[in-house]
Amino acid sequence: MQTLRDLPALRAAVQALKSDGKPLVLVPTMGALHDGHMALVDEARRHGRHVAVSIFVNPRQFGPNEDLDAYPRREAKDAQMLDDAGVDILWAPPVEVMYPAGFATNISISGVSDGLDGAARPGHFDGVATVVTKLFNQVRPDIAIFGEKDYQQLAVIRRMVADLDMGIEIVGLATRRAPDGLALSSRNAYLSDAERQAALALPRALGEAKRLMEKGDPVEDALARAIAMLTAQGFDPVDYVSLCDAQTLEPMTVLDRPARLLGAAKLGKTRLIDNIAVDPA
Ligand code: PAF
Repeated sequence: MQTLRDLPALRAAVQALKSDGKPLVLVPTMGALHDGHMALVDEARRHGRHVAVSIFVNPRQFGPNEDLDAYPRREAKDAQMLDDAGVDILWAPPVEVMYPAGFATNISISGVSDGLDGAARPGHFDGVATVVTKLFNQVRPDIAIFGEKDYQQLAVIRRMVADLDMGIEIVGLATRRAPDGLALSSRNAYLSDAERQAALALPRALGEAKRLMEKGDPVEDALARAIAMLTAQGFDPVDYVSLCDAQTLEPMTVLDRPARLLGAAKLGKTRLIDNIAVDPA
């Protein structure tokens, strides 16, 4: 695996790799890799001959009081995992390569970015869309793989790729979970043992609300039940538990089409998100 940190070297490596005409697949990450990321890499391998992974902790998608400085960084270990998995290119640019002095462009996708995490974390999806556009322009993949754990992010990227005719196939992969049901996340590393146990309330609350809605209970009651379950386990604040259209992410008050149930809440200093599909009878 080649680890690259500047654009001329990346361009040369990508050109050499793609000279056989086979697809290049990109897995964008912020590092601190876990089994969820490695499932994305496996999926990439199924979709294309060549695999590139980016590791870049993107300052533009963190708010002023968020965890940019604390975000786990362990590139040497990540690089070993990617090398073992047969990845061809690790693209790990420093901040000044990604955002050189004078950088002044912002990509903003309205509608799908506005609610949920877009409301709770102003500017977050502009930061994601801007860096993902840059990663796509830098690596020029044919296909890119993202996890459904960040379901709204996936919807934002799909909208952006369609709107801007980027011509990249976007593949979403189901969330990887620990055996007890907690969605894998680099931020789980922040949880104390007691918080790790309490965190199970998030998948359980979403699962319970899904069960209630699919058996016909009013959406509003099911959401209130989920919020009560989270609060009882010490989540504070609960940013949202919301039923949304599975494609557009518009809020739904009646379960009359395929939907996604999304939740975000804070446990101590750690903000956790999760989501599951909800289907009408
Ligand atoms: O999901 C992530 O890890 C990040 O949001 C991404 C897509 C790599 C952009 O920084």
